[in-house]
Amino acid sequence: MNFSDSELIETLLSEQGLGRAAGESEADLILINTCSVRAHAEQRVMGRLRALKKLKDRRPEILLGVCGCMAQRMGEDLLRELPWVDLVVGPDSYRRLPGLVSRAGRDNPVQAAELVLDRAETYHGILPRRRDEVSAWVPITRGCDNFCSYCIVPYVRGRERSLEPEAVERQVALAVEGGAREVVLLGQNVNSYRSGPTGFAGLLRRLESVPGLARVRFLTSHPRDLSDEIVEAMAGCGKVCEHLHLPVQSGSDRVLEAMNRGYTRDYYLDRVRLLRSRVPGLSLTTDILVGFPGETAEDFGRTVSLMKQVCFDYAYTFRYSPRPGTAAAGLEDSVPEQEKKRRLQQVIDLQLAHTRAALDSMVGAEVEAMVVKPARSGQGKYLARTRGHFSVILPAESSQVGRVVRTVVTAHTGMSLVAGAGCDT
Ligand code: 5AD
Ligand code: SF4
Repeated sequence: MNFSDSELIETLLSEQGLGRAAGESEADLILINTCSVRAHAEQRVMGRLRALKKLKDRRPEILLGVCGCMAQRMGEDLLRELPWVDLVVGPDSYRRLPGLVSRAGRDNPVQAAELVLDRAETYHGILPRRRDEVSAWVPITRGCDNFCSYCIVPYVRGRERSLEPEAVERQVALAVEGGAREVVLLGQNVNSYRSGPTGFAGLLRRLESVPGLARVRFLTSHPRDLSDEIVEAMAGCGKVCEHLHLPVQSGSDRVLEAMNRGYTRDYYLDRVRLLRSRVPGLSLTTDILVGFPGETAEDFGRTVSLMKQVCFDYAYTFRYSPRPGTAAAGLEDSVPEQEKKRRLQQVIDLQLAHTRAALDSMVGAEVEAMVVKPARSGQGKYLARTRGHFSVILPAESSQVGRVVRTVVTAHTGMSLVAGAGCDT
């Protein structure tokens, strides 16, 4: 979401004639887009902002701004704590950025904060400049109403709102016109997308008819809102990829309830069964959060057993950190850091084994892969992605970027598949 918001910010500023600088030392304006979801992400931003003080001392005319969730959370405290920061701008105030920048340029930097959370702001009508040509992000909802007890997002991104389906379709069509072949629909909980009569399933069905679009993906799904109708839309829409990121967080009903997730372990497993029967070959990824307040060894064991039962293709794993203002911040952070680390390592190791098994099972298979960009290793190798979102390294040419090819997997590296040259589908 933040990558996508950065594209939005760049678009708004470019409409005012600003262009991208070659690097930090040449920039007149430096904006840092921030995440508040974990304390660690914020600490890194603080470190970066402290380091930028030196640059600011040397060139006081530079404007330094902080955007995103951390700007929203800390607001004017950030300006007080780091007086060399000029602007703090929350996620619903980006339309004000061009004005702020030109005013600051006129009046010499004066500190300013724009922090209103706007229930109606969907950035309707702004067509972001895209950096990645093959795959385009299209935000369809903003904000979140779920209030999972550990999560700060509802407080810093405000209430959930959806972009009208016509506007989504227009954004998708324009992305395709600009060279994209795949779109990734974005939102904190895309499954609860609703605009008038159109829900998320309806939106997926609508995008089937966009000419030139090869693939549709979406992030993030909430198990509670993953209705049968959405599963059917996934099964029935040829463009929708067989990949679902479905954060489970924990395998213990007691912890799930304390997290206010709105589902049980059995319900989650039931969704997985339905998905796997209706969407053959589905690749399933998740988020796991360990060390939530009160998580006992037995609760943690339930998470491990759920992971073994489902065998996720990949999992993003996190160690709980209390976030100010959330419901869980009022609970005793009872699991010692050492124990959180141990539990985290255990789920990381287990997931590595499961990912490896998933990759092993694909060796020898023919896959459909979309060529994305030159691989980091260079030498005529390109990065491609399967419909299940596995990375594939294969020989290709620049003219093939954006094309979907058929290829046979010959090996894997533990993280990516390796394949021979593909032929066009
Ligand atoms: N501590 C650790 N991880 C968190 N996440 C959200 N809030 C916290 C927190 N307070 C994780 C969840 C979520 C992912 C984006 O970040 O697993 O799904
Ligand atoms: Fe946070 Fe829960 Fe909303 Fe995801 S669904 S953004 S975890 S409150």
